[in-house]
Amino acid sequence: MRLGRKQDETPFERWGGQPFFDALVERFYEGVVTDPLLRPMYPDDLTISKAHLALFLAQYWGGPDDYNAIRGHPRLRMRHTPFVIGKDEAIAWMRHMTAAVDGADLSEEDRAVLIEYLEMAARSLQNAH
Ligand code: HEM
Repeated sequence: MRLGRKQDETPFERWGGQPFFDALVERFYEGVVTDPLLRPMYPDDLTISKAHLALFLAQYWGGPDDYNAIRGHPRLRMRHTPFVIGKDEAIAWMRHMTAAVDGADLSEEDRAVLIEYLEMAARSLQNAH
């Protein structure tokens, strides 16, 4: 018998599959709706926005290719060009996402890996100075 994680287990599986990402994104948007800088960037009805982000993150972390099946190649930089994303917007986005991640029951190591990725991605999507 071996203890510890299965060798071929993806973060998607380890963290709890699609429900983990759905709940993460739900918490994230609870922050976004209170944010005067970010709220106006998003549509009134957030149902689709939530679904796209949750499917994207699930796919990135080893889940099924549902995001690609629905939306095609992510092209995240291109998809964010309609929005002015400066340092303040990226910091606000990351603040809500960090709170959402901290609401999950992850190991220190998994939390660090997830936050590091999100910070890198948020930096890379800044398109205004
Ligand atoms: C840096 C600050 C960011 C801001 C201000 C921002 C803002 C937005 C906005 C306004 C939308 C459009 C929502 C909609 O029309 O439904 C969007 C879509 C999206 N964002 Fe961001 N975003 C940021 C960072 C990120 C990061 C770091 C990721 C990934 C790790 C990400 C992933 C996505 C995805 C997957 C979508 C949906 C794309 C699609 O249409 O398929 N965003 N974002």
